[in-house]
Amino acid sequence: MKLVILGGGGFRVPLVHRALVAAGWVDELVLHDVDAARLASIRAVLAGGPRITATTDLDEALRGADFVFSAIRVGGLAGRAADEQVAHAHGVLGQETVGAGGIAYGLRTVPVARDIARRVARLAPGAWVVNFTNPAGLVTEAMAEHLGPRVIGICDSPVGLCRRVAHALGLDAVGGPGVGGVAFDYAGLNHLGWLQGVRRGDDDLLPALLADSEALRSFEEGRLFGVEFLRALGVIPNEYLHYYYDTRDALGDDRGAFLLRQQDRFYRGDVDWETTRLEREATYMAQDRDSLDGGGYEHVALELMRAIASGAPATLILNVRNGSTLAALDADAVVEVPCAVDAAGARPLPVSPLPDHAAGLVTSVKAVDRLVLEGTRASALKAFALHPLVDSTATAKSLLDTYVRRHPGLGYLS
Ligand code: G6P
Ligand code: MN
Repeated sequence: MKLVILGGGGFRVPLVHRALVAAGWVDELVLHDVDAARLASIRAVLAGGPRITATTDLDEALRGADFVFSAIRVGGLAGRAADEQVAHAHGVLGQETVGAGGIAYGLRTVPVARDIARRVARLAPGAWVVNFTNPAGLVTEAMAEHLGPRVIGICDSPVGLCRRVAHALGLDAVGGPGVGGVAFDYAGLNHLGWLQGVRRGDDDLLPALLADSEALRSFEEGRLFGVEFLRALGVIPNEYLHYYYDTRDALGDDRGAFLLRQQDRFYRGDVDWETTRLEREATYMAQDRDSLDGGGYEHVALELMRAIASGAPATLILNVRNGSTLAALDADAVVEVPCAVDAAGARPLPVSPLPDHAAGLVTSVKAVDRLVLEGTRASALKAFALHPLVDSTATAKSLLDTYVRRHPGLGYLS
């Protein structure tokens, strides 16, 4: 079993490695990165487990792969910090997946992701690709043009929400969306989803949770969105809806710049990996978390890989092509929904129709994703201008021009 990690010099790779060591059934791990020094820093942190090779040659890495984890960050954290800084200078949100920052990051990443997908299709046509790279929904959709259902996007925020809700409901089993005899009725796009029900047989446990103020205040999303609003809404939004529902409170978020400084200390060799990791997790949405339950990407990825490789079925919330799951979207749109996973891959399960406010946002944001994928100057301008969180066409044009000047990889839009 050969697993390749693209972005193998990335900071979170040791978490994946740790999960691989625990699982025990991957015998060959290839780390690929465009930056040899970062690759060496991360390689030095890894001990035990599968046989590891590290390379900067992409085609050599991909040849004969069974699974590919794509965890690249085009432009690095400096690019993320620049996305954020430019957005802030324009008075709009700079988050790496939502609004102007997400559009800039998407425009920069899509050409690279497409190139990787083409190479996988040629060099490892039987491989399954797990996309970690944000903005995960649209990047997965770009790769699916070449890989179809063989690319699956992942995120840990839906499973985190389900886990916290299960805990607040006093369900002892915590874990994936099918655990504890309950089914989580969650749907939307990546970082834009809603939990609409927690079903046990014919019962829905969510209304009782929404009625219980204390239980709601016991977990992150309850505190983030507030009891009264959640009760009015009747569903529980993904934490990233904070950027839509409380946009003005989130405007100053400068996580990209913070992480750039923080991670540089590790890659320069000044601070060890574990200290750096703990600080990163402790500061993620820090205003709303009181415990370190962040992360979890590696567990979602491992569960997914295990179900495909062994054929033993699993239910996971994943980014896959819609088919006929959400009525507002066409069949090829990548959505984030519960899926049945086995040796044949991931198949979306039926979910409740989205309420109008959610369907509206999903439709608008998917339209912006599609404009990013189109990849012309006109489509990029429309993406910025038509995003619900960019409030002026003049700002949209200036954002586009400034990002094109700042990022060498955006020359194709000038
Ligand atoms: C969550 C999100 C991921 C994101 C990560 C950001 O896990 O679901 O999409 O990559 O947080 O963490 P960071 O430490 O990079 O802000
Ligand atoms: Mn995510």
